[in-house]
Amino acid sequence: MKYAIETFDLTKRYGDFLAVDALDLKVKNKSIFGFLGPNGAGKTTTIKMLTCLIQPTSGTASVSGYDIIKSPDEVRQKIGMVPQLVSLYGDLTARENAELCADYYGMPRDLKEQRIDELMELVDIKYAENKLIRQMSGGQRQKVSVVASLVHQPDILFLDEPTIGLDPTTKTVLWELIDELNQKGHTIILCSHDMYEVDMLCDHIGIINLGKLAAFDTPQSLKDTVLAEEKCQESNIGEIVREMEESDATAHPSFGKLKTVVNESEKDRAREMSLMMSYSDTKLLERLYQIPCVLEIETHRSGRLTFKLANTENAVTQVISAIMETGGNITSISTKDPSLEDVFSKVTAKKVKKEEKAGE
Ligand SMILES: Nc1ncnc2c1ncn2[C@@H]1O[C@H](COP(=O)(O)OP(=O)(O)OP(=O)(O)O)[C@@H](O)[C@H]1O
Ligand SMILES: [Mg+2]
Repeated sequence: MKYAIETFDLTKRYGDFLAVDALDLKVKNKSIFGFLGPNGAGKTTTIKMLTCLIQPTSGTASVSGYDIIKSPDEVRQKIGMVPQLVSLYGDLTARENAELCADYYGMPRDLKEQRIDELMELVDIKYAENKLIRQMSGGQRQKVSVVASLVHQPDILFLDEPTIGLDPTTKTVLWELIDELNQKGHTIILCSHDMYEVDMLCDHIGIINLGKLAAFDTPQSLKDTVLAEEKCQESNIGEIVREMEESDATAHPSFGKLKTVVNESEKDRAREMSLMMSYSDTKLLERLYQIPCVLEIETHRSGRLTFKLANTENAVTQVISAIMETGGNITSISTKDPSLEDVFSKVTAKKVKKEEKAGE
């Protein structure tokens, strides 16, 4: 089986409102798929259809090889779900909730108890196993929800914003757990608004907007292609030159100007680097500007230099080597790659604009 999930014109209407609009999505087996989109985009609705909690209005999907409309019971056996709003029994304890889930899947008693112990220790909630859910904090309930969803070792795990409300340490534990489960062969569907989480964990990302799939690719390809597309549509070299002619550039204008014209289009995808140096002089800056991968340098009053570098593998090394060769002394350094957040705002903003135009 190549795809853990495949949707075919999957559609959900609430009255006149189209929440999910003919979605065609493929999620590779044994991958981690990140499902992104603004509030109300249709992520949870899609997940509810894929987990057989609600029926599509039209279209269908195959989940772990089974059709969600024809074989919902088989689908339910293959999946686990950590819902956006934790759905546990408030009057039962953490352990009783996990046991109930295991019983639903018909797990043998020994295996059930062992698995619950392991999972509770893993997410650090064993200490509260006998506490009633209604007496627990939001983060504690989230942990119990994770335990309950994993107890039967599902092929596909759906996580709808699982790390919201978790403290930083528990968040890291959950990330490690997601990675570990994936390495053991589980497919993970992760809905999240945390771009760092998605970027770090996911093999592929789908961005849904207004019920439609607006972008789909690997995190890196999205950064490369979406930000590059934007550049083609929006950068206007004529305007840049005019702005520069009108601007009152002072400190190191001759080099800065040239780099700006030639490379404005690359800046959307640029890697940012910030350096603190014990000293820097014009000669060093001239030298740095001559490095082809340096797109822009800004000097700051504090002595900090910030760079925009072409997104090539050895750009950072080239700059540092040049500084070392001239006897420069770097006291601190940080770098920032183009982010998924940039991709997200561009993909979703673009779509809204189109919709607005269509409605005019
Ligand atoms: N039961 C319902 N009845 C009517 N409309 C609904 C229902 N459930 C969801 N919707 C609407 O469908 C749209 C998609 O909702 P959904 O919960 O799928 O969004 P989401 O992408 O998960 O958003 P969020 O990031 O806020 O969780 C929203 O406009 C929502 O108001
Ligand atoms: Mg949601």
